[in-house]
Amino acid sequence: MENPIGIFDSGVGGLTVLKAIKRVLPLEQLIYLGDTARVPYGNKSKDTIVRYSIENTKFLMQFNIKMLVIACNTSTAMSLEVLRQMFTIPIVGVIEPGAKRAVEVSKNKRIGVIGTVATIKSKAYQNLIKSYEKGAVIFAKPCPLFVPLVEEGLTKGRVADSVVEMYLQDFKTKSVDTLVLGCTHYPLLKQTIKKFFEGKIQIVDSAEETAKIVRKILEENKIQSSIRAGEDMFFVTDAAERFLKVGNEIMRGALKEVKTVQVGR
Ligand code: DGL
Repeated sequence: MENPIGIFDSGVGGLTVLKAIKRVLPLEQLIYLGDTARVPYGNKSKDTIVRYSIENTKFLMQFNIKMLVIACNTSTAMSLEVLRQMFTIPIVGVIEPGAKRAVEVSKNKRIGVIGTVATIKSKAYQNLIKSYEKGAVIFAKPCPLFVPLVEEGLTKGRVADSVVEMYLQDFKTKSVDTLVLGCTHYPLLKQTIKKFFEGKIQIVDSAEETAKIVRKILEENKIQSSIRAGEDMFFVTDAAERFLKVGNEIMRGALKEVKTVQVGR
């Protein structure tokens, strides 16, 4: 089936998920929406995040997408169930894959989770990890300054080092052996985070795991593309230039055209 896969995020960070999907499913056509006019979602209320998520999905449904990937942890935490009730296509979020992986790789089952204020407050990761591993001890912490750091391209250097230290110091003293990057932007800080822990911690990035689940669902539903389905398309709700600039750091220059659209009107 050659219909596209729809992917949305509150902004540019979800491109980390798109890139991972592209790697495992090169034939699929991907249509990405970054809701840059309304980013960040991470400090907004549940009602607002659910409304934005529904509007984003409706926009992507115009393209007859065969599957939806919510490439935003905050949206997944707040709206996955609502969207699954409203739309009949398969819908994948980024939280389940990351939570599963964390339980698989952790040896001492002392797991750290970082994300936006909304994601951490929702306890979506904490509850899922517990459902996979009853005895897991979870340390969850919001890291609200990480998103603007990434948006400003400050993923390495003095400022990044000190913000990482400020938020993650606690995890060192708690003998956590695995840290889940529960936010689309955080994989861009992976090198700085790794350096801070001197390689003594397993870092779980949901993007790779989500891509594997997307492939599995396409196969199970027999809806994978057998030929190169079409060019990928990129949409934002504001500031396309900035999206291109930051997005190309993730996509290594592969992002060529981004269209600005309005959703929810
Ligand atoms: N995409 C969001 C997430 O993964 C981070 C940015 C935001 O707060 O909107 O949680």
